[in-house]
Amino acid sequence: LEKKILIAYYTHSNNTEKLAKAIQNKTGGVLHKITLKTPYPSGRSISDQAKKEIDAGFKPELVSKLDDAETYDVVFVGSPNWWYTIAPPVTTFLSENDFAGKVVVPFYTHGGGGAGSIEEDIAKLCEGAKIQVGLSVYGDGFNDAQIDTWLKKVI
Ligand SMILES: Cc1cc2nc3c(=O)[nH]c(=O)nc-3n(C[C@H](O)[C@H](O)[C@H](O)COP(=O)(O)O)c2cc1C
Repeated sequence: LEKKILIAYYTHSNNTEKLAKAIQNKTGGVLHKITLKTPYPSGRSISDQAKKEIDAGFKPELVSKLDDAETYDVVFVGSPNWWYTIAPPVTTFLSENDFAGKVVVPFYTHGGGGAGSIEEDIAKLCEGAKIQVGLSVYGDGFNDAQIDTWLKKVI
């Protein structure tokens, strides 16, 4: 039986979206863009707002709920690295959905800081899921072979 695959991601400046689309292209999964009801400001003030939200454990409200979470076998979860962890919209998304019993695969983009605690932080919010090794990409600097090698390991 074919595995049913979801690729859920948040992006602010499109690097993570490019990676999500590349993963979608190779897996044939369903893309789900995590979208905020109240978008972040553009410009520098986003940095302070993000830090405050992360420190407070704030979960910003999303535009829509995933209504078929239980139908997927594999869930790719994508985020930019924000202050060494996942962006708050991804925290909201993982808190709203129960992925117990599913395979969860992190992927993320960063500005030089690498993984931070992203993989552990996703795992904490996906109790009962099987967490696979994540894909870490600097900016939008991924290539085909890198994604292929990783996908062979994780699904
Ligand atoms: C609020 C904020 C905080 C960030 N914190 C980090 C960080 O701690 N480490 C890092 O390597 N990059 C950090 N970055 C850079 C982003 O992770 C990087 O540009 C990423 O590719 C952006 O993904 P996106 O284009 O999908 O939004 C931060 C960016 C923003 C906007």
